[in-house]
Amino acid sequence: MIARLVPLLQLISILLGLGHAKQASNGVDLVMSLDQYYDTVNSNESYTMVEYTTSWCHHCKKLAPNFVQLKRLFDDDSTRPPVRFLEVNCEIFGSTICSGFPGFPMIHLIQPRTRPLEMPDQSQPVALWRRVFNYLTSKYTDPRWQLDPSRVIEYKGSRDPKSMKSFIEAVRKKDKLLKMAEKVLDESYGCKSESYEQDQQLCEYGKRFIQDIDSQDLAKERLKLENILQHNDELKDNLQVYNEIKLKLQLLNQLLVKSSTHDEL
Ligand SMILES: *[C@@H]1O[C@H](CO)[C@@H](O)[C@H](O)[C@H]1NC(C)=O
Repeated sequence: MIARLVPLLQLISILLGLGHAKQASNGVDLVMSLDQYYDTVNSNESYTMVEYTTSWCHHCKKLAPNFVQLKRLFDDDSTRPPVRFLEVNCEIFGSTICSGFPGFPMIHLIQPRTRPLEMPDQSQPVALWRRVFNYLTSKYTDPRWQLDPSRVIEYKGSRDPKSMKSFIEAVRKKDKLLKMAEKVLDESYGCKSESYEQDQQLCEYGKRFIQDIDSQDLAKERLKLENILQHNDELKDNLQVYNEIKLKLQLLNQLLVKSSTHDEL
């Protein structure tokens, strides 16, 4: 009975405009408004891990405490970008945020935004009556209420805190590597702007690597590095060397893609 009341109470609080109130008791923010949801997932400074739930779904009930524990595992995490945790009640946001979801719970990891939101053409003013009409017929949508689907990664693995944590860390690592490779390949980028010394060193290492590599040797070099990684598990213990090899592989991949598109011309 109480459980049934929860969505009703949330709905009332939304109608009363308590939209940004957060349920802070367990640290997972319960989404109370569309603005709050989109502001969070469109952050350019953090990842957002979201659980989409309903009160009638059995597996959602089992997920909830695990999600809280997952959030706790990140309490002392200082790796950048940070991760935020949200819960969306799809009984309230079923026709908006959760529209088209095949089942519950759903878990999404949303990457930080890297491009500006696409705002509509402001040069053409929209008549007030048209805006009011759109609002009343529910055609009103805020231009900030958009989410680039390419930033959304669905999590389909086991729903225990440790597995979910490894997933987040793997995505964050991979994104960081991709970003670093882009910076290394960007001739106008000087590694001095890196905030951390070890990132600066890795960046410079990458720059030297692409300067010295013979463009004929890209594929051979990649094969060699892949072999080294495959047959030397203990490399993972030496983080610096491991990161250097991963960066070189990423650089080789991107250079090989580039050179193959050149060949087609
Ligand atoms: C995020 O956006 C703000 C405002 O546009 C900007 O000042 C800031 O540097 C951005 N942060 C990152 C990490 O891109």
